[in-house]
Amino acid sequence: MLERLQKIISAAGITSRRASEELILAGRVTVNGTVVTELGSKADPASDTVAVDGKPLTIAAKKLYILLYKPVGYLTTLDDPEGRPLVTDLLKEVGERVYPVGRLDYNTEGLLLLTSDGEWANQLMHPRHEVEKEYHVRVRGKVHKSQLDQLAGGVDIDGRKTAPAKVRMIKEGEQNDWFSITIHEGRNRQVRRMCEAVSLSVVRLRRVRYGTLSMGALQPGKFRMLTEAEVSGLRNPHQSQESAPSKAPARPKPASAMRNPQRPAAGAHAQNTSSGKRAAAPNKNRSPRKP
Ligand code: URA
Repeated sequence: MLERLQKIISAAGITSRRASEELILAGRVTVNGTVVTELGSKADPASDTVAVDGKPLTIAAKKLYILLYKPVGYLTTLDDPEGRPLVTDLLKEVGERVYPVGRLDYNTEGLLLLTSDGEWANQLMHPRHEVEKEYHVRVRGKVHKSQLDQLAGGVDIDGRKTAPAKVRMIKEGEQNDWFSITIHEGRNRQVRRMCEAVSLSVVRLRRVRYGTLSMGALQPGKFRMLTEAEVSGLRNPHQSQESAPSKAPARPKPASAMRNPQRPAAGAHAQNTSSGKRAAAPNKNRSPRKP
């Protein structure tokens, strides 16, 4: 996409837009090797090489933020020696590497975030942020109030008590009851182990909310891009987590609109390591576009 040169230069963190104009007027900026002194000239940061004083700019790649309805029977790891299905198999059309924010068990379904933004993922997963995760749990037989009270107050798993949780009954059935539990810790298989601790047998576990985000009408195996407001809303830990929208936004971005992700820094997943920016591919055969 064509953008004004001063915007490209300032977005690369070199200097302000105003000072970028000075650089252009001073003849210090080139596009694909040609000096450009006209204010308002445009270039495509994805395919043109913009340089200041002969040094090509490093242009931050676009990051991806995805909400997936993970079905049962998919792993949130990035590979599996046993060849079982991976959540990333459901995202092939994205065409870029993304990493799960935390994990859901093979047999757990529901809301899973994936991103190429390691910093964002790390922020969300950091215990300090206490992002709420709400699960709907179907159990074999009846759930008693005393069991819900114990879950709410915290139960011992691995010798350490869980933090207080919010619980409420959803539905009572002949064979199974459903209840909701909201936690903000992220211990391994936490909900299942909490249920085990109060002698509840889980037959279905579905995550329905992550912070301010709900599943909406998304179907199993389907995904959508988050809006900018959703991405920054999750980043803000002081935002109300009770007012989660119940529907998908009116115009989520299609996967095809996103490109050039960055691999996250460590944290979003064990395999995530590198980070940083990447330079636009040099293209010596193209000239700068006029405004
Ligand atoms: N708690 C669990 O027990 N399993 C999950 O997948 C997520 C939370």
